Amino acid sequence: MTTTFKGRATEAFFGRRMGKPLRELQTERMKTLLPALQVDLSTGAPANIAELFLVPVDRVRLEIGFGGGEHLIHRAGENPNTGFIGVEPFVNSMAKLLTQVEETGLKNIRVYDDDATQLLDWLPDASLDQIDLLYPDPWPKTRHWKRRFVSQVNLERFHRVLKPGGLFCFASDIDTYVNWTLLHCRNHGGFAWTAQNASDWMTPYQGWPGTRYEAKAKREGRKSAYLTFLRV
Ligand SMILES: C[S@@+](CC[C@H](N)C(=O)[O-])C[C@H]1O[C@@H](n2cnc3c(N)ncnc32)[C@H](O)[C@@H]1O
Repeated sequence: MTTTFKGRATEAFFGRRMGKPLRELQTERMKTLLPALQVDLSTGAPANIAELFLVPVDRVRLEIGFGGGEHLIHRAGENPNTGFIGVEPFVNSMAKLLTQVEETGLKNIRVYDDDATQLLDWLPDASLDQIDLLYPDPWPKTRHWKRRFVSQVNLERFHRVLKPGGLFCFASDIDTYVNWTLLHCRNHGGFAWTAQNASDWMTPYQGWPGTRYEAKAKREGRKSAYLTFLRV
């Protein structure tokens, strides 16, 4: 099923939107906390997106497809002066994140609950310091590769919204997706891969807490790559 936003069909989301029914408290948070934290795309973006946050922030970082939210919550706690926008269309994951936001009391998180391309197109030029795309849906079958979030169109979106010198971080356990991303970034021309040697891309990012999807990949014997690109 596709959803529409301002007349546009969902462009880059092909997954499930909902799993098992939410518990009562989760439903309540979706009704109350989600509207408070949700970025409202129906009004123009502030010229300075730091204004989206209740607390003063000097950097803004976007996480696309935060899943269980463990990385987003960890990073937001670790970097109180950074504002985080987390995007996740899967309802149960959003509900889980809202619980964690409530429990931790973190004030430097905003969210968006639909296709990240919509948020990317709303953001002003050069407004982000970092984009994290961690274990995006791998679409391992060749005939599904065109569904992968990394594409020339989305790299162009990243390039527009990242500040010069901003970072695009991509982690995956799927070799073909890692190669795909390296190739797409090279062909785009606006991203410089920062790795100097193999240990740079085989070593998790500093302070890395892991993610739920990564834990599953590890259990199944797959190793991950952690790519960092500089927006040039
Ligand atoms: C394989 S999971 C990884 C989740 C988490 N990052 C982790 O490592 O555990 C990919 C996530 O991306 C989300 N996703 C897929 N397409 C998306 C899109 N167009 N915009 C935002 N999120 C998307 C999915 O709902 C899913 O939760």
